Amino acid sequence: MKLLKSIEEVREYILNCKNKNFSIGLVPTMGYLHEGHGSLIKQARKNNDKVVVSIFVNPIQFGPTEDLSTYPRDLEKDSLFCESLGVDVIFAPSSKKMYPSNSISTFVTVNNITEVLCGAKRPGHFQGVCTVVSKLFNIISPTRAYFGEKDYQQLTVIKTMVKELNFPVEIIGCPIVREDDLLAKSSRNSYLSNTERQDALVLYKSLLKCKDLISTGEFITANIKKEMEAIIHSVSSSKIDYIDIVDTNNLMPVELINHDVLVALAVYIGETRLIDNMTFKIKEA
Ligand code: PAJ
Repeated sequence: MKLLKSIEEVREYILNCKNKNFSIGLVPTMGYLHEGHGSLIKQARKNNDKVVVSIFVNPIQFGPTEDLSTYPRDLEKDSLFCESLGVDVIFAPSSKKMYPSNSISTFVTVNNITEVLCGAKRPGHFQGVCTVVSKLFNIISPTRAYFGEKDYQQLTVIKTMVKELNFPVEIIGCPIVREDDLLAKSSRNSYLSNTERQDALVLYKSLLKCKDLISTGEFITANIKKEMEAIIHSVSSSKIDYIDIVDTNNLMPVELINHDVLVALAVYIGETRLIDNMTFKIKEA
C-alpha cells in the first residue's frame, strides 16, 4: 500500500492505472477510521481494480465554532486499518496542498436540499463538502465513489452534484454500520465519556420508537416527533439540534407520511453532536 501526500504523486499513480484500464474506487474520509468506513472500503475492494482512500480533515466544511482543531486524527492506525482491508493507496494531503492560498474563491454549491436538516444547522457545511469532494474527483478521477447512508443528506447532495455537474463517476451508497448496542459508528463517538456513551443510545431508541409508531399506523409526523423527543429528553446530557421527517427524495419536510420518508436527527450528548437516521418505505394505498 502506498501513502501519498502530494497531488502530483497521486495523479501520476492514477495516470498509470488509467493507462492499464484499471477501475478505481474512491472512499473519501476524514480519517480516524472505524468499521463504518471499513464497510465502504470493503465494498470498493469488491468492485474495483484499485482502491484509493482519501484522508483529509477538510477545514472548509467546519463552522467557526465547530471541532476542526480537536477532530481526532491517527494516520498510523488508519494506515494499518487500510492495509488490512487491501487498500492500494491512501491519499492524505495537507491543508496547504489542498488549499495553497489563504483564501479560496471557487466553491461548489448545491441549493435547496442543503437548506434543511444538517444544512440548516451548519451553514456552509455542504458547500465545503461539495468543494472538497469535487477536488478529490478531479484529482483521482474515480470510476466509483463510496459514501455512507449514516450521512444521508451528504449522500443525497453528492448524488445531486454529480448528476447536475456531469461528473463521470458512479456514486454508491452503503448502509449504516452500528456498534453492538446499535449506536451508529462515528469518529466523534471517541469524544463521549462513559456515561455519555450510554446516554447516546437514545438516538437509536428514538428511531426504533418511530419505527414502532409507523408500523402501528401513526402517520402524523408531529405526533411521532413528540414521542421521539420524549425519549431523547429522558437523558439529561441531551440537547436536540433537530428531529425531522422528510421526503426521501427531495428531503422536504412532510406532515403526513404517505410515501417513503427519511427520519433524521442530530442530538448533542454533552458537547458532542451525533447524527443518525432511518428510512421507511411506505406502501401506497
Ligand atoms: P467522514 O465523517 O470521515 O466519513 C467518511 C464516509 O464514511 C462518509 O461517506 C460517511 O457517511 C461514512 N460513514 C461514517 N460513519 C459510518 C457508519 N457508521 N456507517 C456507514 N458509513 C459511515 O463524511 C465525511 O468524512 C466528509 O464529509 C467527506 C465526505 C470525507 C468530505 O470531507
